[in-house]
Amino acid sequence: MLRKLLLYLSNQAWLRHFISRYPAFRNIAWRFVAGETIESAFGVVQSLRKQGIESALDYLGENVTDLSSARESTDFYLSLLDRMYSSGIGNYVSLKLTQLGLDIDEEICKRHLEEIVSKAEGYDIFVRIDMESSAYTQKTLDIFKDLYHRHKNLGVVIQSYLRRSYDDVQELVRMGARIRLCKGAYLEPPEVAYQDKKDVDRNYIILMEYLLTNGNYPAIATHDERIINHAKNFVQKNSIPVDNFEFQMLYGVRRDLQRTLAAEGYRVRCYVPFGKEWYPYFMRRLAERPANVEFIVRSIIRE
Ligand code: FDA
Repeated sequence: MLRKLLLYLSNQAWLRHFISRYPAFRNIAWRFVAGETIESAFGVVQSLRKQGIESALDYLGENVTDLSSARESTDFYLSLLDRMYSSGIGNYVSLKLTQLGLDIDEEICKRHLEEIVSKAEGYDIFVRIDMESSAYTQKTLDIFKDLYHRHKNLGVVIQSYLRRSYDDVQELVRMGARIRLCKGAYLEPPEVAYQDKKDVDRNYIILMEYLLTNGNYPAIATHDERIINHAKNFVQKNSIPVDNFEFQMLYGVRRDLQRTLAAEGYRVRCYVPFGKEWYPYFMRRLAERPANVEFIVRSIIRE
């Protein structure tokens, strides 16, 4: 119930304006968001690297409603790539297609993405397209497939809560595509997505085993220790080298586990979001763990 309510509220503009201005929320959001500027995000990337953890930089933004905002986000990513290359900080970015104009014009969105991917390719930087709600799954995969033929530094995300994901994974693996596997963070109807956590987890394990065996450097993106242990046992049993895949986790979530895995010799990458548009991202993080909401309520009462 609470998860559904928070995911619903994550799309409400009126609440976004209120919460973005409320200092208590901003302070709590910094647990999950690496500040609003490139400098603050680079600081986080450098401190993670000291702990043996790589990063994926995400400039927050989604569902832009006009082309000038889509262009601004594209330009921001282009200058971020320049800064990453000239400073040597980071080798991986994540982005959302609705941030580049998918809701407005698919062709323009694809052109924006290709500008970013082409520049990143010259800098040897990897670009991951995040997966948004199921309304965008097919469009995202179509754009990905079209561009992947020309740019191999591009990857995509598959969500284990979607019923269609097994077929998508098989097709993408046949293409040699790099996949990040996650559970899925949006509110979805039963026709398209498993509603029961047990089914989402079961499907995650099926897809994960398939990717670890057949995939091209899959990213196992979860904080679920049971699934992570399953992955560790699976690769050991099947003699899969640990540099054939990486674990990925979100900034501010299970930092202890991120450090432990890195110390054990696994490749670990942390998803580091930054920027002013943190509200929907932050609400999805709250929805994943009701205890986060209790924590906020307690801090507001204390203020
Ligand atoms: P689960 O929700 O079962 O949580 C397992 C445990 O992890 C919890 O018991 C708790 O200890 C901890 N935990 C999880 N979330 C937490 C939180 N917010 N705060 C504190 N503790 C938490 N989704 C999507 O739809 N599209 C995408 O592109 C991506 N991209 C992405 C990249 C990366 C690197 C990660 C790790 C995740 C995503 N996601 C995503 C989000 C993903 O779909 C999912 O919502 C979250 O990872 C939470 O699910 P878990 O797999 O962690 O399992």
